[in-house]
Amino acid sequence: MNALQARASLPLDRLGRPLRDLRLAVIDACNFRCGYCMPADRVADDHGTSAASRLSFDQIETLVRGFVQVGVRKLRLTGGEPLLRRHLPELVARLARIPGIEDLALTTNGALLAGQARALREAGLRRLTVSLDALDPAVFRAMSGNRGEVGTVLEGIAAAEAAGFTRLKLNCVVLRGVNEDQVLPLLERFRGTGHVVRFIEYMDVGTCNGWDPAQVVRAEELRERIAARWPLRPLAADYTGEVARRYAFADGGGEVGFIGSGSAPVCGDCHRARGSADGHLYTCLFADSGQDLKPALAEGEQGVAEALARLWSAREDRYSEIRGQAPARRPIEMYLIGG
Ligand code: GTP
Ligand code: 5AD
Ligand code: SF4
Ligand code: SF4
Repeated sequence: MNALQARASLPLDRLGRPLRDLRLAVIDACNFRCGYCMPADRVADDHGTSAASRLSFDQIETLVRGFVQVGVRKLRLTGGEPLLRRHLPELVARLARIPGIEDLALTTNGALLAGQARALREAGLRRLTVSLDALDPAVFRAMSGNRGEVGTVLEGIAAAEAAGFTRLKLNCVVLRGVNEDQVLPLLERFRGTGHVVRFIEYMDVGTCNGWDPAQVVRAEELRERIAARWPLRPLAADYTGEVARRYAFADGGGEVGFIGSGSAPVCGDCHRARGSADGHLYTCLFADSGQDLKPALAEGEQGVAEALARLWSAREDRYSEIRGQAPARRPIEMYLIGG
């Protein structure tokens, strides 16, 4: 197929949105049990540890090649915790070589990063996002469901810097009364480093996090609190459809981001698809069901591209915009599709 034909066959969904980004989970196990995602009393310790239903590296590569055929240029690997997937750098190297993948990123909780940052960088990973909910060891430990140590994650961040990752994104989910007091210390620590801290509103994703609206701290409220300490000025989005709203510190200390799916929906430009580790397609973070891509995968890259074109053309998701009017029936768990 030449470039023109390829362009002609790129699908648009029912709201005219192309498919540009893929967030692909490589495993649905996690070594943390954050209460807002995978609470320990709801998700068994061994969840996702069986490799039986996971796509193989060969299948993942074919899948991604199929996604590229229908327009994907940006790939983010997620989990669960992606660094738990054995031989991950090998997979990264294979995906980095696919023509058409212009941006290859990964979101991790950072617990295993110190040992893997260099190998991931050498394999071709270009961008890294690390979740970091607190600097205070006790608050961090509690938020990870007593599984994580902030010191280990900070070592991971240092190893990532040493391996050549610059401008890390650091994601912090803010819960009222739990880690609100960590917001300014996180910024104090990372302002001026070139890394970008982003504060995420607690979202009602999945079925098991016991979402309580009283625990949500709206992005706007946080922004005002931060601006009272360090004046901010708005920045334009880095790319169309960016989820985070960006602000610069007026004093030149870098930037901060806010992800407010509840208060500031970005569905209009949403060109993200999500894939689970077992090969299902989810066309929205709040989707209540996925489409099994394995039958298409059995027919190779072309089969995947055809199935995707069909499924994407039927997409009409815009959950954040219509929440309340049409609550998801049984939304997919966040840890199956990596946020
Ligand atoms: P960049 O490519 O660096 O901009 O990455 P990103 O911000 O899209 O990726 P990241 O994994 O850091 O996502 C941050 C968080 O934003 C996710 O964990 C979700 O909580 C939220 N998010 C990402 N995409 C969407 C989306 O399409 N809809 C909604 N509602 N929230 C999203
Ligand atoms: N609300 C907001 N963000 C969440 N994440 C997981 N669950 C939730 C939730 N309920 C975020 C994590 C991580 C990303 C993968 O998803 O903090 O940054
Ligand atoms: Fe694991 Fe990330 Fe979910 Fe925490 S938010 S339980 S680290 S997948
Ligand atoms: Fe995209 Fe769904 Fe998020 Fe809207 S709610 S931005 S459609 S993933």
